[in-house]
Amino acid sequence: MLELDWTRLPFGYIKTDYNVRCYYRNGKWGELEVSSSEHIPIHMAASALHYGQEAFEGMKAFRGKDGKIRLFRWEENAKRMESSAKGIMMAVVPHELFLEALKKVVKLNERFLPPYGTGASLYLRPLLIGTGARVGVSPADEYLFMIFVTPVGPYFKEGFKPVALQIARDHDRAAPKGTGRYKVGGNYAASLTAGMEAQAAGYSAALFLDAREKKYIDEAGPANFFAIKGNKYITPESETILPSITNKSLMDLARDMGMEVEVRPVPVEELADFDEVGACGTAAVISPVRKIDDPVTGHVYNYCKDGEAGPISTKLFKRLQAIQYGDEADKFNWTYVIE
Ligand SMILES: Cc1ncc(COP(=O)(O)O)c(C=O)c1O
Repeated sequence: MLELDWTRLPFGYIKTDYNVRCYYRNGKWGELEVSSSEHIPIHMAASALHYGQEAFEGMKAFRGKDGKIRLFRWEENAKRMESSAKGIMMAVVPHELFLEALKKVVKLNERFLPPYGTGASLYLRPLLIGTGARVGVSPADEYLFMIFVTPVGPYFKEGFKPVALQIARDHDRAAPKGTGRYKVGGNYAASLTAGMEAQAAGYSAALFLDAREKKYIDEAGPANFFAIKGNKYITPESETILPSITNKSLMDLARDMGMEVEVRPVPVEELADFDEVGACGTAAVISPVRKIDDPVTGHVYNYCKDGEAGPISTKLFKRLQAIQYGDEADKFNWTYVIE
C-alpha cells in the first residue's frame, strides 16, 4: 500500500512508476512505449534544446466518490497541443494517440491517484519536443511525445485563500503575433523574471499587460484573469494569452448561472470597478485575488475586503470542482471516465 500524505502533497514532482512515450520518425508516429526511466536520451543538437521546439500541456485526473477516475476535458488539451505544435512547426499528435497515452499512463500509475476527499489529484504532463538534430534554425524531422504524471495536493493548503498580484510594468511575456497563445516553453522562460520579481516582493504572481500599449490586462502569471462586476463575468480578449480551459469552463458555468459573459479588452483602470477578481487555471481552478499593486502609478486595487473570496468566485469554484470529482451531474459532458 502506497504511503503518501495525500492531504499535504505539494504542487511539485513526485516520482511515479511509469511514463509513456511515442516517437515521430520518417513522417509517422510509432508505437506507444512504456518506460520506467525518468530520463530522456536526447541528441545534443536536438531542436528542442537550441531553438525551443517544445510544447506541453497540464491537466488532471480525479478519483470520484464512486471510485471512478475522471479526466477533465481531455479533448481541449489535445486541441491546444495541436495548436501549439502547428504554431512552432512541430509534428501534430493525433487526438486518438493523445487519449490512448492518457489512459495508459493513468492506469499504469493508478496507485498514485489520490483518494476522493483529500482535495488532491493526479497531474498529467503531456510533452512534445523536437528531437531531430538541427544546427541551422529550422524545424526538426523527429519528435518525441510523452506523458508523465505526478500526484499533487490541493493548491491552497489552508483552503481557498486570496492572493496578491503585482502589475508587470517592466516585462512582457509575449508579443502581438508572437507565441503567447501557444503553450510553449519559451513563453514561460520569458515570464520568469517578472514572476520571480513579483514573488520576491511578496506577491503570488505578476499580472501582465498587453505588450503593445501597456493599457489592457493580459494574464496573471500562468493563469487567465477574470473579474466579476454585478451580474457580469469579464475576461480579457487578447491574442497573446493562453486560451485557458478552466476559463472556458467558468464562462459556461457563469452563463448557466444566468450571468452575462464579456470577452473584451479590459483596461487597467477598470480594476477599480470590479467586485471580485480571480486568476484561473488547472492548478488551482480559481485563485481569488485580494489585491493588485501597480508599481508605476502607485495604484492599489483591493478586493475580498473581509479577507474571504467573493460569493460568485466561490460558487464557480465549487461547481467546477464538483463536476471534476463527479459530485455534480456532468451536464456539459466535460468528463471522461477511464475504464
Ligand atoms: C500562461 C497560462 N495561462 C493560462 C493557464 C490556464 O490554462 P488551463 O485552465 O487550461 O490550465 C495556464 C496553465 O495551464 C498557463 O500556463
